[in-house]
Amino acid sequence: MTFRTRLLAAFGVVVLVPLLVFGLGIRREMSRRVAAEYEGRIASLGAVIRADLDREAGRIAARLAALQEALAADNRFRLQERAYVLDYAGAAMRLAGLDFLQVQDGDGRIVSSGHFRNEYDRLGAAVPVGGPALLRAPTAEGAFLTYVGRDSLMIGGRRFVVVGGVAVDSVFLARLARGPELAARVALPADSTAAVVEEITLPYVDAVDGPGTIARASIVVYRSSDLLAALRRNVNTWFGAAVLVAALVALLLAGWLSTRISEPLEARIAIGDLARQVNHDVKNGLAPLRNVFRHFAQVAREEPAKLPDVFAERQGTVESSIAYLETLAANYARLSPQAERKPTDVNAVVRDVVKGTAVQAELGAGLPAVSADGLVLRRVLENLIGNALDSLEGRAGTVRVATSGANGVVRIAVRDTGRGMTKPELDKAFDDFFTTKAGGTGLGLSIVRRLVLDSKGSLKVETEPGEGSTFIVELPAL
Ligand SMILES: Nc1ncnc2c1ncn2[C@@H]1O[C@H](COP(=O)(O)OP(=O)(O)O)[C@@H](O)[C@H]1O
Ligand SMILES: [Mg+2]
Repeated sequence: MTFRTRLLAAFGVVVLVPLLVFGLGIRREMSRRVAAEYEGRIASLGAVIRADLDREAGRIAARLAALQEALAADNRFRLQERAYVLDYAGAAMRLAGLDFLQVQDGDGRIVSSGHFRNEYDRLGAAVPVGGPALLRAPTAEGAFLTYVGRDSLMIGGRRFVVVGGVAVDSVFLARLARGPELAARVALPADSTAAVVEEITLPYVDAVDGPGTIARASIVVYRSSDLLAALRRNVNTWFGAAVLVAALVALLLAGWLSTRISEPLEARIAIGDLARQVNHDVKNGLAPLRNVFRHFAQVAREEPAKLPDVFAERQGTVESSIAYLETLAANYARLSPQAERKPTDVNAVVRDVVKGTAVQAELGAGLPAVSADGLVLRRVLENLIGNALDSLEGRAGTVRVATSGANGVVRIAVRDTGRGMTKPELDKAFDDFFTTKAGGTGLGLSIVRRLVLDSKGSLKVETEPGEGSTFIVELPAL
């Protein structure tokens, strides 16, 4: 698992899971509140509808009371002028803004009817005394439902009953069930009532054929559609969207964080790398110095007289090694070892590196210069030659550096007759820290490869276990 994936996974657990739990909690709470609010609203609507019906009944009662007063003062009615009395209810009904009106005598017989002039003396609707009732009333056009009140009065020692009301039609019901959540209808005694929010039961009289008997019906308020389910769906949609957005933000954040966090980590690795490189390069520079010094010590011990000659002979090696170390130090001081590319004579660098060693040089004549940093080239050669000498593992053998130029390319081949490499060894030879040596750093070849590639060159290896290896560096000629 990469660092990034691990970070993302950790982020998922640490951030997304609590977020999800929190979100689910909020969703449940919201759902609960929406439901509670909805039920509350519907309950209050039920109360409002009840109040509306009561108010309507009050209005009807007030109109009937006004009618009573007019009746009591009406001389023609008191005198029972036949034609006048028959037409009375029709005119009074329209004047009072009622949809139904019947004037009955003390026995319940019709004296005057708003809808039928000729109903005289038939038994009228048997509306109960007291509060409002639902009445199915006959008209010439068919039966219709009314919401009626009933009142009685005395005229000239005779008792009369007035029954009047308004039509319970779709307009009346729609006015009752305000808002889109609810609808109202009339449930007659035979109807079943399901999904009822509010049921207002009233006395009911079916007076279409005869006076009828008192039964019970109700005005039922019910949910017109499942608005609550729709609300819940809404909450779910929003919750889903919120979770998606949160996940996206978390992912982006984690991605951004992973680049932020992995950077210093990589930088730390790079510094460790650099430290090993410095160690490696310094050791490479010190090795010839140590050899020369041992040589001096040996000559001083065995043939002191030859010391000046030997000194003169090895002075160049010492100076070039010191110069190498100095340049290296200066280069590292700049920390990013910036190569300074300039025309460089490959043969000169090879000569310098092999001087005073057992390494043979086969330098091609008339070699073109390459555009490279002399120090870089030297580090490449030091490493390749060092590895070649190591490959001999103390046995007899040769290490040879050959240079040649052709087709705009300068070629440096470092060949040894050492142990060679197996295929798996070769596959890993250029990896950082891969080494088969007791004191090896495993960095030499990875440095070589990087330096050669930075110099726009290429690197090839030919090797055979037990036979030896050839490392070939090719650099573009100037
Ligand atoms: N000329 C060579 N002959 C045989 N093996 C070699 C040669 N050069 C490199 N190798 C193998 O590649 C490994 C890595 O080399 P290098 O990166 O220079 O690290 P080091 O020299 O510190 O081991 C060596 O340990 C060795 O096994
Ligand atoms: Mg090495």
